[in-house]
Amino acid sequence: MQLERLLQKHGFGTRKGCRALIRQERVAVNGVVCDDPFAEIPTDDLVFSVDGVDWPYREFATVILNKPAGYECSRKPQHHPSVLELLPVPLRERGVQPIGRLDEDTTGLLLITDDGQLNHQLSSARRKVPKVYRVTTRHPVDEAQIAQLLAGVLLNDEPAPIAAADAEIMGDRLLRLTITEGKYHQVKRMVAAVGNRVDALHREAVGELTLPGHLQPGEWCWLTPADLDQLVKTK
Ligand code: URA
Repeated sequence: MQLERLLQKHGFGTRKGCRALIRQERVAVNGVVCDDPFAEIPTDDLVFSVDGVDWPYREFATVILNKPAGYECSRKPQHHPSVLELLPVPLRERGVQPIGRLDEDTTGLLLITDDGQLNHQLSSARRKVPKVYRVTTRHPVDEAQIAQLLAGVLLNDEPAPIAAADAEIMGDRLLRLTITEGKYHQVKRMVAAVGNRVDALHREAVGELTLPGHLQPGEWCWLTPADLDQLVKTK
């Protein structure tokens, strides 16, 4: 792919702007500065850099964010900044969107992508992708609550009871809950339906993908092609 087009595809501005970056010798390809906007660059295993920052070539941009509290998942947030502000400008310029939504006060694993098909696949109710949450509750969790969550609880505006795919007591006020839907405030409403209340909510995993231990709140990393394969296979 032509270098100029490659930069544009990766969110570095207009073609004219990208050409200027290249001519100013601010772009390197696999570690070597390239000042020819029209150079044909093989994209396999390509890492290019702009102003010394490395970017892997990605047909689609998919990243994992460790979402901190105090951020909204919307592109047009109402009361708090958008999670997209935690990403570098070129990623945002690619038009990435969160896959599903976490509440403003929920923390943990959030996938963000510009791959519409992946977004659709993982959000689709039919695929029943498991989402695992660590739930800190206001009151102690007991076996009766677990049994109710597993049997199914009726939520307002839902025609049928919704059951957790898994629910385990992890501590006095700590619960690990797995759900396969993505309904509005689902965990909070399910926990309320069994007479308890969510004080803190953290998403640990989506499908087989767990939040990498090295990612601090507010940090992001690229999803590796292996992670991506694994995710897409999630049934
Ligand atoms: N369920 C909720 O109630 N909130 C979230 O952010 C995610 C799942």
